[in-house]
Amino acid sequence: MAPAVDLVGTGSTVNKFIEALATMKDEVPGAVSSSVASTERLKAIGVRVFDANEVGELAVYIDGADEIDGRGHMVKGGGAALTREKIVAAQSRRFVCIADDSKRVEALGRFPIPVEVIPMATQRLVRQFALQGGTAKVRLKDGQPLVTDNGQHILDVTGLQVRDPLAFESDVNQWPGVVTVGVFAHQKAAVCLLATAGGVQVIEY
Ligand code: A5P
Repeated sequence: MAPAVDLVGTGSTVNKFIEALATMKDEVPGAVSSSVASTERLKAIGVRVFDANEVGELAVYIDGADEIDGRGHMVKGGGAALTREKIVAAQSRRFVCIADDSKRVEALGRFPIPVEVIPMATQRLVRQFALQGGTAKVRLKDGQPLVTDNGQHILDVTGLQVRDPLAFESDVNQWPGVVTVGVFAHQKAAVCLLATAGGVQVIEY
């Protein structure tokens, strides 16, 4: 078993975190990463990257969010890494969310909710979201469906207000063809380090 390491997510906020980590990399035995992009950044600054299967439960997972509500529930997946993010979040005892106060919301759903899907299920899932009042669109990259690190596609869903994040996550996650929905309620944040004009607020949930 490898020595204790931490888990690091994906996105522009985490990229800043990785830059800061470079100044203390000799104190970090290594990390598990939630995406190919973060893996490359960690390796570039000299941090050893472990496979999630090489390590046991970890103390802390550090990642950004697209939205966070007053109870620590989040929408994630703007960077298309939601499935791996949820796996590593589940492997850690404490999710530390790092975000600025533009991400704070009353109810999840203003940001389009990312859903990683098996491509053959796409159109059926578009219809299933429509029945709930949502509009699901396939995320594109260079005019083609974006392909995730897991070889799947992303639907971005607008028009839904998620009043009960735990129930919504459990429900959508069991629709055939859904790999992961980007609502993090079962793996919510334990604490948010929220950047505001007046400094960093530490919010415990
Ligand atoms: C990546 O898939 C996401 O979950 C990111 O953590 C989230 O989109 C936040 O990204 P930014 O820090 O770039 O806003």
